[in-house]
Amino acid sequence: MNRAILIALSLSSACFAADLALTPPMGWNSWNKFAEKVDDQAVRGMADAIVSSGMKDAGYIYVNIDDTWEGQRDAQGNIQSNSKFPDMKALADYVHGKGLKIGIYSSPGPKTCAGYEGSYQHEEQDAKTWAAWGIDYLKYDWCSADKVYKPSDMQAVYKKMGDALKATVRPIVYSLCQYGLQKVWEWGASVGGNLWRTTGDIEDKWDSMAKIGFDKQTGHDSYAGPGHWNDPDMLEIGNGGMNPAEYRTHMSLWAMLAAPLLAGNDLHDMSAETREILMNKEVIAIDQDTLGQQGTRVSKEGAAEVWSKQLANGDLALGLFNRSEGMTEVRAQWEIVGLKGKHKVRDLWHHTDLGSVRDYYSAEVPAHGVILVRIAR
Ligand code: GLA
Repeated sequence: MNRAILIALSLSSACFAADLALTPPMGWNSWNKFAEKVDDQAVRGMADAIVSSGMKDAGYIYVNIDDTWEGQRDAQGNIQSNSKFPDMKALADYVHGKGLKIGIYSSPGPKTCAGYEGSYQHEEQDAKTWAAWGIDYLKYDWCSADKVYKPSDMQAVYKKMGDALKATVRPIVYSLCQYGLQKVWEWGASVGGNLWRTTGDIEDKWDSMAKIGFDKQTGHDSYAGPGHWNDPDMLEIGNGGMNPAEYRTHMSLWAMLAAPLLAGNDLHDMSAETREILMNKEVIAIDQDTLGQQGTRVSKEGAAEVWSKQLANGDLALGLFNRSEGMTEVRAQWEIVGLKGKHKVRDLWHHTDLGSVRDYYSAEVPAHGVILVRIAR
């Protein structure tokens, strides 16, 4: 292929949202740790820390500003950032200068969830403003939209912004946030969505994370795939409300679910354990597998659950989870995941090959913990 054709192809592909989020988006979001305290300096600091901590090299690319950046509209109706963000374009340039991408947040309603200015009746204008600032990712949160729209309007409302983003010609990842209402997984992709929240907000607690990750994702798996993902919400790893075994379960489950991996902690002061959990390349590879198949639960006996995820090279990822408060043996029987005979097993948290194993793999799993393995075909 000659150079001119190659350039034309790469230019045209840059213009199509269909090429975005071919694997689940990875990055950082301000809400879980900073909430309304996020400001320009915090975002620059996180961009610096993503690079210096090794998170960027591990694949975390988006630096996403959540709610509370919004200021008033000017006389022409253009949205402006508030005093916490003196110059959004300069901030985007700074983040881009680090080889990262930047995300922003809004609502289709008149107000965001935290009561700031939403995009109601300014959808195209806001999309153009964000594109001019250099924004690469939008989280669009329903919030007060139910004051001005009916639930049955929701698809059209999200399509309106999806179309407005496309019209900017800038590739902007489109993240729908309406907590799984109206079976969003059935139509999220058709309105231009690259990901959609399936549930309400996660909290930094075992019960919240476990309920969302284990119990509320089933039945949506067939809607996930390259370019369009179910989103069980952002990560709480490193925020202090769960122990390391629970955070490894959180990370493993999100990887099995092919979920977006948006860290929600302060990246400046990560413990060795938090780093090891967020940057385990073998676990990230399960999440980012190019086949894009969402894993599912294949067995459940009391608190013992086995989850399976098909991978692009024919391997299988298996999660042996223990939801109880004591050590439990969890067994993954080859026949329930379509395997027979002997297969090589690799432990992805201990980074060890466990040899060839016949008929089943079984392990003692700690309380609220996981053994995550990769099985060669
Ligand atoms: C909603 C969303 C959260 C966060 C807040 C911000 O609750 O679900 O993820 O964006 O709004 O106000």
